Amino acid sequence: MRFTLITIATLAVAAVSVTQAREGNQHHFGAVGHHYSVQAAAAAAAVAFEQQAAAGGHITEDMHPGTLYSSKRLIKVSENTKPRWLGLEDILALRRAGVGFMDITDTQDMHHQQDIKALGEYESRLPTKLSHGKQVRGAIGQLSTKLYGDVLNPFTAFHNRYYDSEYGRKSSEWLKAQIESLVDQAKANVTVEAFKHKFPQSSTIARFYGKSEETVVISAHQDSVNMWLPWFGRASGADDDGSGTVTILEAFRVLLHQGFAPERTVEFHWYAGEEGGLLGSQDVARQYKKQETKVVGNLHFDMTGFWEKGSEEIIGLVADRTDPKSRALVSDLANEYTRLKTKEFECGYGCSDHASWNAFGFPSAMAFECDKLEANTNVHSPKDTVETLDFDHMLEFSKLAVAYAYEVGYDKTD
Ligand code: BES
Ligand code: ZN
Repeated sequence: MRFTLITIATLAVAAVSVTQAREGNQHHFGAVGHHYSVQAAAAAAAVAFEQQAAAGGHITEDMHPGTLYSSKRLIKVSENTKPRWLGLEDILALRRAGVGFMDITDTQDMHHQQDIKALGEYESRLPTKLSHGKQVRGAIGQLSTKLYGDVLNPFTAFHNRYYDSEYGRKSSEWLKAQIESLVDQAKANVTVEAFKHKFPQSSTIARFYGKSEETVVISAHQDSVNMWLPWFGRASGADDDGSGTVTILEAFRVLLHQGFAPERTVEFHWYAGEEGGLLGSQDVARQYKKQETKVVGNLHFDMTGFWEKGSEEIIGLVADRTDPKSRALVSDLANEYTRLKTKEFECGYGCSDHASWNAFGFPSAMAFECDKLEANTNVHSPKDTVETLDFDHMLEFSKLAVAYAYEVGYDKTD
């Protein structure tokens, strides 16, 4: 039996959450208040969807409103196994089983490329010593937790931010408007662009133009998923990855405020479709590779807000599919500029968007809320809410993003 009691229970929680989200919207934010009728319709559709699926025993293409899964997708679950063409049901099963994967349907050419340099082979352009302490400390002093709540409350009130849905499209448009409004307020010479994909949600790229072509990328993913009912289910996605989204947004706000004018081009990326197999970040990394953009480093933030009280508070650093020199740098930055030490841990294949940069031969690192993937059991469910987050913990990650922007962005390695 594919549709278990858990599915039905999740659906019930999702339905309740629809109501909560609706109230939240009306209470706090006029901008997304019109989602009320959409959400009510979605709740009804979710029930119909589940009934049909239970009756038929399987999900078919006409039971979901998206377009991405109307034909099979090429899915990779490890470096060593051949990618396979999988249909929707199999992909959903992978996600429910917690198997990390990359959907390489639209990036096959890059994955096949022979010239991708193995990890550690490329010449690192990252700084080996820290030399911008004064600027970093000045900027860090301006960081606050206020934006976290201001942005996360409306952001998590979108019923979900599923990339292959209208919710996902609307949430990405809303987020882009928040980014643009920060730039407008600061009257800064920073561009904000939508990077479009083959599904409704777009990634957003904000760019501080440097004097050199070398590019620094600080990133998070903006989509969320309810692993049982991706299109209709409630997925607040506060920790995964609302936390990373606002962690880098707060860093971005402070850099704007400080009149940040780096030597290198420094970009902030909010990826779409991470939960679909790193879709957004692969599209972006593929384009940068094709255009021969000189990406000197990527620092990715996926989940920064939850840690088990009683355990040691640390910054987790993903040890696999990341660049050793980037990890060493991030560790130095944490020691110098945050109150936390780093600890390395394995995240597995897929895992998050750092793996896209890594797979295409760019040096990448990924900071995580702790050193245990399974610590936050709320992910991919309606229970991943703002109340479960620790904003003071998140602030340390914003410090890391600011420090990375200055130390790598102003570096003149030659
Ligand atoms: N933020 C998660 C990574 C994660 C997974 C954290 C499980 C904690 C527990 C990320 O968004 C995610 O869900 N990754 C998937 C792979 C993705 C391509 C579906 C994973 O690692 O299973
Ligand atoms: Zn995530």
